[in-house]
Amino acid sequence: MSKSKDKASVTPKVTAQNEFFTVIDDLLPADVRARLWNYLQIQPLNSVGALGMQGHWLLEDSGVLRGPTVGWGHTWDAQYPSGAPIDNVMKALVDCSNLFADTVGRYDVDWKIFSAMPTLYQPGQGLVWHRDSEDNTGSWAYYAHDRWNIEWGGELLLAHAHDLPREYGVYFHRLSATSDRPESLPWQAHLDNEDANRLLLEGGFGSYVAAKPNRLVLIKGGTPHAIAKVRPAAGRHLRASIGGFFKKTAVRVDLPPVPWTR
Ligand SMILES: [Fe+2]
Repeated sequence: MSKSKDKASVTPKVTAQNEFFTVIDDLLPADVRARLWNYLQIQPLNSVGALGMQGHWLLEDSGVLRGPTVGWGHTWDAQYPSGAPIDNVMKALVDCSNLFADTVGRYDVDWKIFSAMPTLYQPGQGLVWHRDSEDNTGSWAYYAHDRWNIEWGGELLLAHAHDLPREYGVYFHRLSATSDRPESLPWQAHLDNEDANRLLLEGGFGSYVAAKPNRLVLIKGGTPHAIAKVRPAAGRHLRASIGGFFKKTAVRVDLPPVPWTR
């Protein structure tokens, strides 16, 4: 198949949509995917533990790899257009944003700045239950690997739950109130998730989305979600995604994030 024919043959289409998420398949044409795959192979990657994200992942998952963050409308490590193939994912996302406005709001109205960063999961690695910060209207992930198998794990899990109490924060866990810190601040739940466990098991059901190649998933802000561990059967097939967050238009992205409860 010629490159021009590849380009012409791709039309992103909504595969699934409900009150918690939107799934869009066939986001990018084959030649763009091939360039993105090369891009992923030459990125400087660091383990999330080394990047200081202590506790965002379980200790056993602290070897998950993260690449540089490119911003749309804002500079993190770089800004769109960065000149690199990640630009194509970001542009494709904006170009089809009308398809997922019900999930994360409208471009240039509810959000106009978003981030894009590569994340790689190896067999044995996943991500704990959490939800997006209140600074975001929602989040996205695009599956950039060339192959996946339904038995390789790595599914995005989404709880069918809305409006869980905001004081539980991003990880549904709060530090114990003590005499010197009586405010019981929300924190990462990697050492103690008893409160998160109680809260999430009140419902304890929802949807999964397989890490199908060339698939884009949008998650509505506030929806509890997790990533199932990639299974040993995946071998050297890493779960390679590009993803990020849609910043609410009212949020100043140049300031440190506001603590969840304040
Ligand atoms: Fe997330």
